[in-house]
Amino acid sequence: MPGDSLRAFIHALPKVELHVHLVGSAGVDAVLALARRHPSAGVPTDAVELREFFTFRDFPHFLKVYWAVQSMLTDRHDIESLVLGLTDSLRSQNVRYAEVTVTPYNHMVDGMPADELLAGLASGRAEAARRGVDLAWCFDIPGEKGLAAGRETLAFALTERPDGLVSFGLGGPEVSVPRAQFAPFFAAALEAGLHSVPHAGETSGPATVWSAVRDLSAERIGHGTSSADDPALLAHLAEHRIPLEVCPTSNLRTQQVATIAGHPVGRMLSAGVIVTLNTDDPPMFDATLEGEYLAVAEAFGLGAENLRQLARNAVDASFLPAAAKSYLLTEIIATPTPASPA
Ligand code: HPA
Ligand code: ZN
Repeated sequence: MPGDSLRAFIHALPKVELHVHLVGSAGVDAVLALARRHPSAGVPTDAVELREFFTFRDFPHFLKVYWAVQSMLTDRHDIESLVLGLTDSLRSQNVRYAEVTVTPYNHMVDGMPADELLAGLASGRAEAARRGVDLAWCFDIPGEKGLAAGRETLAFALTERPDGLVSFGLGGPEVSVPRAQFAPFFAAALEAGLHSVPHAGETSGPATVWSAVRDLSAERIGHGTSSADDPALLAHLAEHRIPLEVCPTSNLRTQQVATIAGHPVGRMLSAGVIVTLNTDDPPMFDATLEGEYLAVAEAFGLGAENLRQLARNAVDASFLPAAAKSYLLTEIIATPTPASPA
């Protein structure tokens, strides 16, 4: 299929994004405006320098940059403008629904009052719905901050329980941050009806993914890249229908993989694992959801029906109510396949 018709098909598919961080979705112009208001954060105020600033040596370097951007967010207006910037980007790509990761503990450590965060999320989500994009929230533990962060994130999630909160996550570095220590917080979140979606296997080996599955009862895995190194794990994920939130361009930009063609997503698909495609931190990685579909199609020779299946996977793996899932699935199934070249 020629590139242009594949691109048009990818655009026409109603899409769902399951792994995107709110801070990491700050658009370049928004970051530049914040940087001008907060010169001490050390974030460039010039677009060319910002692109350079968003060139990551490795995952720890990426996290430092991410935290610098986060430190500039101070009130509900900042949060709402991030939500609406993300909304407009999603809408322009025909993304209908997204589960967005928010890290309340980090915002509060950086001095944002809880009420400001909650007000910005609520007003942003309401306006997103008016613009045709449904948003849900995942509140995640910043793993590097340890048990206190786990305790506080759980308490915040269960006490505030804002509209749209569907899941409980775990992010940050994986090396030297065992998943199992957070087991009691995940058990309590699950008990309260939230879903378990920890990051695992992004920056460490398959043992971390096993731990996320066994100790945190993961219902989806954030990234799960290194699962591909363990055939028994791939078989387990396939058999138990635990989807992976794969973020190919993110892994490329943080130097976890050298090329998209070298990304293990091909092996995940061959093993029958439920793969979903996601952007993680789109402007920081110069990524779009449409771009992820196209890059994977080109690297692995996928056609329209494979891409349709990936779009369906994201709906199935989402925490949308059944009626909303079937509405989106019907539209995905009805999206016309582009004509093959003569
Ligand atoms: N992994 C872990 N923590 C993060 C990420 C990620 O991809 N993005 C923002 N925080
Ligand atoms: Zn992530």
